[in-house]
Amino acid sequence: MGVLANKGEKVKVRVRVNGVWYERYVSPRMLLVDFLRDELGLTGTKVGCDTTTCGACTVIMNGRSVKSCTVLAVQANGADILTIEGLAQDSKLHPIQQAFMDNFALQCGYCTPGMIMQTYFLLKENPNPTEEEIRDGLHGNICRCTGYQNIINAVKDAAGRMRS
Ligand code: FES
Ligand code: FES
Repeated sequence: MGVLANKGEKVKVRVRVNGVWYERYVSPRMLLVDFLRDELGLTGTKVGCDTTTCGACTVIMNGRSVKSCTVLAVQANGADILTIEGLAQDSKLHPIQQAFMDNFALQCGYCTPGMIMQTYFLLKENPNPTEEEIRDGLHGNICRCTGYQNIINAVKDAAGRMRS
């Protein structure tokens, strides 16, 4: 993490998000999820609870999945972050996104960005997970529409697509 520079009551935060460096002066109390949404306009990351419960705010930070409502923006200073907006390449959906679509793994879609980012991390760590490992890997992500079975199917499908 780099050195923070003060500017009034704000602190400088410099992060690389989806391959692009951004620099903003923000309140030391600003949450990473609010930084992404309000400062950078990356509203794909959702806020479902603000209390580390639902996983809607999940992003990848320095290769690990984090609930961005539990990370301060200043703690992300110097970090490399991947959000749902960074998955599709050249207008082509990421295999996980495509698998969620093809398996009807979303209803209202509110949990979906967090589910997909957690799946991204899960499959990076374990490219061929069992159903039990998928359920365990997604246990911190809640779907209020209770579409869990299709989500599990989508993760299995995505794993197959990414291995082939
Ligand atoms: S908004 Fe972060 S866990 Fe629910
Ligand atoms: S699809 Fe509605 S909360 Fe999961």
